[in-house]
Amino acid sequence: MFPGVAVITGAGGTGIGAATAKAFAAAGCERIAITDLNEDSLQQTADAIKSTHPNTRVLSKAGNVADDHFADSLIEEVVSTFGRVDYAVNCAGVLGKPFRSAETSLEEFDRVNSINYRGCWLSSRAELRQMASQEGLPSHDPSRPSQKGSVVNVASQLGIVSRPGAPAYCGSKSAVIGLTRADAIDYSRDNIRVNCVCPGVIETPLVMEKPEVRAAILPAVETAPMKRMGQPAEVADAILFLCSTQASFVQGHAMVVDGGYVTV
Ligand SMILES: NC(=O)c1ccc[n+]([C@@H]2O[C@H](COP(=O)([O-])OP(=O)(O)OC[C@H]3O[C@@H](n4cnc5c(N)ncnc54)[C@H](O)[C@@H]3O)[C@@H](O)[C@H]2O)c1
Repeated sequence: MFPGVAVITGAGGTGIGAATAKAFAAAGCERIAITDLNEDSLQQTADAIKSTHPNTRVLSKAGNVADDHFADSLIEEVVSTFGRVDYAVNCAGVLGKPFRSAETSLEEFDRVNSINYRGCWLSSRAELRQMASQEGLPSHDPSRPSQKGSVVNVASQLGIVSRPGAPAYCGSKSAVIGLTRADAIDYSRDNIRVNCVCPGVIETPLVMEKPEVRAAILPAVETAPMKRMGQPAEVADAILFLCSTQASFVQGHAMVVDGGYVTV
């Protein structure tokens, strides 16, 4: 179902990026590049894929998505190893400290935005440059044109609605939604689709590791009609749908995967 090459940022550990990399492998993608700031957790994901899908080739390269040059060097390495980039998922992200704007320092604002927004833009810029320069994969369905690539950015329900004490995070995720729409408009003529997912509260280390973060975020679970946390694999499934040719006419969309949270 996924001929070609997938690239996933923020793919270390047990969060949404790692689940997405594993889901690509399970769906038959045989060339997967993964990256994360944390080298050990990245290795965990690579090992997990290799043990369940020994025919899948995995390129893992640790690095910081906020670094000006990292995304370009990653995509260069992916292309020299695997030849192309067909599916790109920009998942690396951090939460901000739980302060209102008046108590938020410039350093904290810049830290969150340089990873969540600027890092997403730097990654997608490198991916889009490569996708626009390559031939599309052949389409086996005459009703669906060949696509040169598909980018999925990981935004958040907090890019659509907000919550107390998260101005830098909410702003960074709204920016990711805006970036997604702008790129969708600009790259349609290249047969590249650009969409994003907006997860609700998902059971990942980002939310679960620190007790004070859990205390701030878990009340939102009760607000959502489905009244439970989502699992990383449930977001990964939405991401794979958006990457797949089944979503061949889905462009510039911000897909919520949130148990109904933003509908309340
Ligand atoms: N878990 C949730 O409830 C939730 C909800 C909405 C959106 N999200 C978004 O989903 C994405 C994935 O988060 P997750 O919940 O899986 O958390 P996670 O902490 O498991 O994954 C985030 C990954 O990004 C990596 N990372 C952080 N800074 C980086 C940097 N500068 N360069 C490269 N990698 C970096 C981390 O090492 C980590 O492996 C994030 O963008 C997050 O904002 C999560």
